[in-house]
Amino acid sequence: GTAIPIAASRAQPQRDAPTSLDQCRRCDLWKNATQAVGGAGPKRARIMLVGEQPGDQEDLSGEPFVGPAGKLLDRAMADAELDRRKVYLTNAVKHFKWEPRGKRRLHKTPAQREIEACSYWLERELKQVAPDVIVAMGSTALKAVTGDSHATLKDAMAEPFMHEGRWIVAIYHPSYVLRVPGDDAKAQAFAAMVAGFRQAVALLS
Ligand code: URA
Repeated sequence: GTAIPIAASRAQPQRDAPTSLDQCRRCDLWKNATQAVGGAGPKRARIMLVGEQPGDQEDLSGEPFVGPAGKLLDRAMADAELDRRKVYLTNAVKHFKWEPRGKRRLHKTPAQREIEACSYWLERELKQVAPDVIVAMGSTALKAVTGDSHATLKDAMAEPFMHEGRWIVAIYHPSYVLRVPGDDAKAQAFAAMVAGFRQAVALLS
């Protein structure tokens, strides 16, 4: 008779069962993404940078912060003399959320329920990496690392604060710096990012 692939059909992971990131079905974002993008960097690191979600290029390559935002991030870290190889880089949400706009895939901000679903993975990374300082880049990252859906970047950027035994430094997201209009505003936002990275380094000593 014909073999019926029962095992394969049973292999569908449960919504809330611990599984590999690749197989995650905790929310629906996997459906339109090429692949999940996990964190990158040393197994343990004193500083963890958290972004929002993979972008178009990250979705295709499987690596965080390799596209335009990543290039700006590299420049800001270099200015702050923060070595990218020494920090752990990840995102609050591990799948690219987008909508078609012509031939392009336009980024969509993740919903709170998606941030919460994906916090399972961020928590695992936090346990493994055990950073002393988290740099939350943008509002989504801030909400994810504080667990506070009402947290605002403006308030959090005022000064570093302690949360669950570690420092949190909130800064602009690199994509914000890329799109903010006006050369002066852009330079100011960039400088604020660099200052945030310097603060993160200073908190280690
Ligand atoms: N923006 C993010 O927040 N993360 C990435 O990995 C790339 C762009």
